[in-house]
Amino acid sequence: MNFTMTKVNKICCIGAGYVGGPTMSVIASQCPEITVTVVDINQARIDQWNDEDLDNLPVYEPGLKEIVAKTRGKNLFFSTEVDKAIDEAEIIFISVNTPTKTYGKGKGQAADLKFVELCARNIAKVAKTDKIVVEKSTLPVRTASAIKSILENTGNGVNFEILSNPEFLAEGTAVEDLLKADRVLIGGDDTKSGQEAKDTLSSIYEHWLPKERILQTNVWSSELSKLVANAFLAQRVSSINAISALCERTDANVAEVSRAIGTDSRIGPKFLNASVGFGGSCFQKDILNLVYISRSFGLTEVADYWEQVIIMNDYQKRRFAENIISTLYNTVSGKKIVFFGWAFKKDTNDTRESAAINIADALLEEKAEIVVYDPKVSEKQIFADLDYLGTRSPEENKKLLKVVSNPIDAVENAHAIAVLTEWDEFKTYSWNDIYTKMLKPAFVFDGRRILDKGNMESLGFQYYKIGQS
Ligand code: UDX
Ligand code: UDX
Repeated sequence: MNFTMTKVNKICCIGAGYVGGPTMSVIASQCPEITVTVVDINQARIDQWNDEDLDNLPVYEPGLKEIVAKTRGKNLFFSTEVDKAIDEAEIIFISVNTPTKTYGKGKGQAADLKFVELCARNIAKVAKTDKIVVEKSTLPVRTASAIKSILENTGNGVNFEILSNPEFLAEGTAVEDLLKADRVLIGGDDTKSGQEAKDTLSSIYEHWLPKERILQTNVWSSELSKLVANAFLAQRVSSINAISALCERTDANVAEVSRAIGTDSRIGPKFLNASVGFGGSCFQKDILNLVYISRSFGLTEVADYWEQVIIMNDYQKRRFAENIISTLYNTVSGKKIVFFGWAFKKDTNDTRESAAINIADALLEEKAEIVVYDPKVSEKQIFADLDYLGTRSPEENKKLLKVVSNPIDAVENAHAIAVLTEWDEFKTYSWNDIYTKMLKPAFVFDGRRILDKGNMESLGFQYYKIGQS
């Protein structure tokens, strides 16, 4: 087979989600000579990507709508015509979701690869010319070989080169992360055609990144590195959260500890913010994956070690909810608790695995009345998150929880506010007005450490900040 590095005219990406959408938009904007088509089986999602009003894009990311505005209809297209896009492209990215399995073997831990397998089978069916197939979704180690086997055994006799090219973008900073990536990882076979495929994909990123930031590895290293990068990041958050619990019992301040250890250049300052617990579509899922594969190879100690990162995260969320209950005199039944934030972090409308979901669940079980304000998350999404847990009926959730669009009105007669996402706007509110409107004593539980303790206390609040006594 003969791939030449300059021959890429068309790229197809299957999956128009949080990863596929922004990644392809950036590629289109940096490679004007390449036509990029993002396909998805979800018509509603494609319609949103094609919406004239760019505020209706299905993914909110700072800077994204500007890029889509410049490229859409020129060399960036969103479509449901999956087969056509596969047929025409030289490079096909697979960026479909790989949720944690909810059934059968590996339930609750292993990644469900059914969508990836469906994609591979479809590519095999449709492809009439040689293709480079790139796995972009986070996948368990050795998935590339499964994809390869499907393609080779069911295809039309054309050649496929499979690459692993994991995405390291973080939500809320996706565009910047893509444009200024620390590194791009490309895993592929060490054969001649494998090397050509790696170089071909590399040439796309070289449009805007220096070549030395594009790392080439074998497929398994690439697949594993993605899981390990997320596991290490999550481990840092769980580590500092563990220390936050200790700080609350002593007179230490977790921010001071973070600063003190973070200035050690070997440790570094990032990912040391104590919080109500990490969320997002990747951390938990990737660690569970790591735990699952380690266990499946009989590496019990390795599996247990990484599992502890999740156990600590669950503890942090539970601890936060329990603290609200015990502080409010051991009962929250009928008490109005206002949530500032529902997204798993600021600057995104994504709520997957958000700590807010578990905290709401715990408080709703105690019959609290919750009012939620989040600047970007829709009411529909919030109820979908709660209903998905299945703890209560949708009717009961509707009865106990309200979603509002005005945060200041919401605090009228509230017993407490819980800050669950670090949206910048929360810092700019008139906390004095908020204090006046609330029932006294007025409690604020700051799960993101964004407010000033001295100031909040001088306004009269009973203020609890994670990681500080
Ligand atoms: C994806 C992967 O799910 C995840 O493993 C990886 O870590 C990051 O990339 P994300 O883009 O956030 O995550 O997922 P999501 O927003 O759910 O988008 C996936 C899209 O694929 C959905 O729009 C879905 O409709 C689409 N899809 C799914 C297909 O087009 N075809 C399928 O067969 C299955
Ligand atoms: C993560 C990885 O950062 C990214 O490289 C990968 O591609 C996908 O998974 P993401 O989940 O979008 O990205 O966000 P991230 O910024 O990593 O935050 C994850 C969670 O950890 C959030 O809930 C965040 O609030 C929390 N967090 C992060 C902390 O609680 N404290 C910190 O210091 C950092």
